[in-house]
Amino acid sequence: MSRPTTVHVLRHFGLALAHLAVAAAVLPLSGCSGGAASPTAASPAAAASTNPQQAARLQFYRREVLPTLQANCLRCHGGMNRRGGFNMSTRANLLQGGKDGPAVIIGRPEDSLLLHVLDPKLAADDPMRMPPKGDRLSAAQVAAIRKWVADGLVMDR
Ligand code: HEC
Repeated sequence: MSRPTTVHVLRHFGLALAHLAVAAAVLPLSGCSGGAASPTAASPAAAASTNPQQAARLQFYRREVLPTLQANCLRCHGGMNRRGGFNMSTRANLLQGGKDGPAVIIGRPEDSLLLHVLDPKLAADDPMRMPPKGDRLSAAQVAAIRKWVADGLVMDR
């Protein structure tokens, strides 16, 4: 680490983050989890630097999830783009969600809007079907996103 002065601060953040992630996974915080703002304060990447499980999950995100989002979602929900009021560039944005509220309930993909819009049962003309036009994600791509949400939504920032 080139910035030793920040190391122990990051470690504390990482620890706090781990506790919050566990709490979020164990407690049905759902609806009022506007409070989920707190786990976003620190980068999960910081936790990944000290925790092998977090590191593996970050790798999973980078290899199995991010390329799918880049190819299918980010042109409308990345960078400065927020169709439906929704941006998915950062964990904080995903937890905040768009006009319909939080897009992800950590640890509960079945209750997460992010997975609902990917449901293959949505009609082709359903406005909530994502991506709105063209091919839907493959079952394997959706499964990877489901696992990513179930395993804590670990991502770079
Ligand atoms: C061509 C642009 C476009 C692409 C590509 C796209 N979306 Fe959307 N997305 C929209 C629009 C427009 C809305 C608002 C739909 C509505 O409310 O009628 C939306 C809404 C959403 C919402 C709901 C936000 C809210 O709070 O209502 C989620 C979640 C979402 N998109 C996820 C995704 C995912 C995941 C992908 C990639 C698989 C994706 N989108 C790809 C345009 C896009």
